[in-house]
Amino acid sequence: MSRLWHWSRRCSRIFTRPNSSLASQLNSVTDADVLHFSKILSSPSSVLSILPSISTSPEELDIYNNDWMGKYFGKSTTVLKPKTTEEVSQIVKWCNDKRIGIVPQGGNTGLVGGSVPLRDEVILSLSNMTQVRSFDPISGILVTDAGCILQSLTDYVAPHNHIMPLDLGAKGSCQIGGNVSTNAGGLRLLRYGSLHGSVLGLEVVLPDGSILDQLTTLRKDNTGYDLKQLFIGAEGTLGIITGVSILTPPAPQASNNVILALPRFENVLPLYKTVKRQLSEILSAFEFIDRTAYDLAVKHGQGRALSEEEVEGAECFVLVETSGGRREHDEEKLNDLLESLLEAEEPLINTGVLAQNPAQFSSLWALREGVTEAVSKEGKAYKYDISVPLSTFKECVDLTRERLRSKGLLNGDQVKAVIGYGHVGDGNLHLNVIAKAYTPEIQDALEPFVFELVASHRGSVSAEHGIGAMKTHALHYSKDETSIAWMKKIKAIFDPNGIMNPGKVLE
Ligand code: FAD
Ligand code: MLT
Ligand code: ZN
Repeated sequence: MSRLWHWSRRCSRIFTRPNSSLASQLNSVTDADVLHFSKILSSPSSVLSILPSISTSPEELDIYNNDWMGKYFGKSTTVLKPKTTEEVSQIVKWCNDKRIGIVPQGGNTGLVGGSVPLRDEVILSLSNMTQVRSFDPISGILVTDAGCILQSLTDYVAPHNHIMPLDLGAKGSCQIGGNVSTNAGGLRLLRYGSLHGSVLGLEVVLPDGSILDQLTTLRKDNTGYDLKQLFIGAEGTLGIITGVSILTPPAPQASNNVILALPRFENVLPLYKTVKRQLSEILSAFEFIDRTAYDLAVKHGQGRALSEEEVEGAECFVLVETSGGRREHDEEKLNDLLESLLEAEEPLINTGVLAQNPAQFSSLWALREGVTEAVSKEGKAYKYDISVPLSTFKECVDLTRERLRSKGLLNGDQVKAVIGYGHVGDGNLHLNVIAKAYTPEIQDALEPFVFELVASHRGSVSAEHGIGAMKTHALHYSKDETSIAWMKKIKAIFDPNGIMNPGKVLE
C-alpha cells in the first residue's frame, strides 16, 4: 500500500504541473507565425491578425476577444478560422512546437469565460467548419462538423422528422462542438438525457496535432475505455473537437405547453410530483421562473404569458411541456391535469394558461428562454449555475439576497435584483445577481458565500455551464482533492505543454 502511495506521488510530480506556471511559459504569436498560418489555411480570409503581415483592424477582433456577457476580455492578436480537420491539425501542431496557447471558440455564447483568451492566445474559431457529413434517417444518427450551429442542425433534421436531443436559448449562435465541449444541458435534458448519452462519437485534434478518430456511428461499442467521454465537458482543455456523431430522436407527433402561476414556491415540489404522476411518459420539460425573473422577462419584451390579474399573487411560475405520439391523447391528459390542479381543495396553482396554437406554444417558450437576454439587458450578471436539492432553490436565492442586503449592496445602485430560474427536473437552479457593474465589492460578497452554500447541500458549482475561467478557484467545492489531482494528471498527459485553453477549468 505504501509503495503504491509513493509511486503515485512520484507520478504526480512527473505529470502534474500547475497549469498557471505552464501558461506563463507560453509564447505570443509573432508575425512569422502568422505568415506560417497563412500558408496552412486555404483561404486568406481564414486568418485575422492585427500583426503587420495581415493588419486586421483591432475592432474586427473584438467579437472574438469579448464574451457574451461583457465580463471577460481577451487580448488575442490573431484569430484562425480553418475549414478542415487537417488545417486544424497543422495549426495545433505548429502551436505546440512553438508553445503558443490556443483557445478553441465556437459560437462564443459560453457563460463562464471559457471561450475567450485570458491573455493573447490564438483564437481558433470553428465557424468555417459547417458541413453535415452524413445523416441516416432510419437510425437518426447525424455526423457533422463541429462548427455547425445548433439551430441549423435542428433545421437540417426537421424534414426527416427528427429533432436535436438538446435545445437552448443560444441555439441561433452556439455550435454543436461548443455544446459538446461544455456538455450543455438546456431545455430537453429531462426527456433526452445528457450529451454523455447522445453523443456517439467524436473527432478530436489533440494538443500535439494528431487526429483522434472516434467518429463512430455505433450505438453499442464496448471496446475498452470510452475516450470520447473525456472531451464532453472538457471545455477545450484537452483538444479541439472537429467532428461530432450524435443520436437525434424522432420528432414528437404532438407538443403542448402550459404556464402555471403558483402562489408559493413551496408548491413547486408537490406540483412536480403531481405533474410527473399524471403526465408520466409525455412530460418533456418542467422549467421554473421566480416572480422577479418573470417580471424582468416581461419588462424587456420577451413576451407576456399571463394577464395582470393572472400574475397577481404569484410567487413563481412553472412551464410544463408535453411531447408525445397522439395529440388528442396528450391534450386530454394535460386538460385533466389542469382541471384537477384548479379544482383541488388546496390548489397548488393560482392559474394556468395552455397554449392554443403553435404561435402561443413558441411564445411561452420564448418567455422562459428570454430570461437570459432580459438579465443582460437589465445589467451585469453574476451567474451561478448550481445543482442543489430542489427543496432548497428558494432558500439559495433568499439567502443570497439577504447576504447582499446585509452588506448594504442591494440598493439598486449596486445590485439591482437577485433572481432564480432553471431546470427543476434536472435539479439545476440559475441563481443570477444583476448588478449595475461588475465590482470587487459585489464579487467578495458573493464568493465564496455562494460556493459554500452549494457545498453545504453537497451540490455542484456548475450544473451545466462549466467551469471556464470563472470557477477554477471553486472547483474544490464540488470535487475532492483526489478527483482534482486525477483531472490534472489527465490534462498533463494530453497536453504536457499546457497550450490548450490555458487557465480554464484547472488553475
Ligand atoms: P463557446 O462559447 O464558443 O465555447 C464554450 C467552451 O467550449 C469554451 O471553453 C471553448 O473553448 C470550448 N469550445 C468551443 N468549441 C469547441 C470545440 N469545437 N472544441 C473544443 N472546445 C470547444 N448552456 C446550457 O448548458 N444550457 C442552457 O440552457 C443554456 N442557455 C443559454 C442561453 C443563452 C441566451 C446563452 C447566451 C447561453 C446559454 N448557455 C446554456 C451557455 C452556452 O450557450 C452553452 O454553454 C453552449 O453550449 C456554448 O456553445 P458555443 O458554441 O457558444 O461555445
Ligand atoms: C438557461 O437555462 O436559461 C440558460 O442556462 C442560460 C442562463 O442560465 O441564463
Ligand atoms: Zn440553463
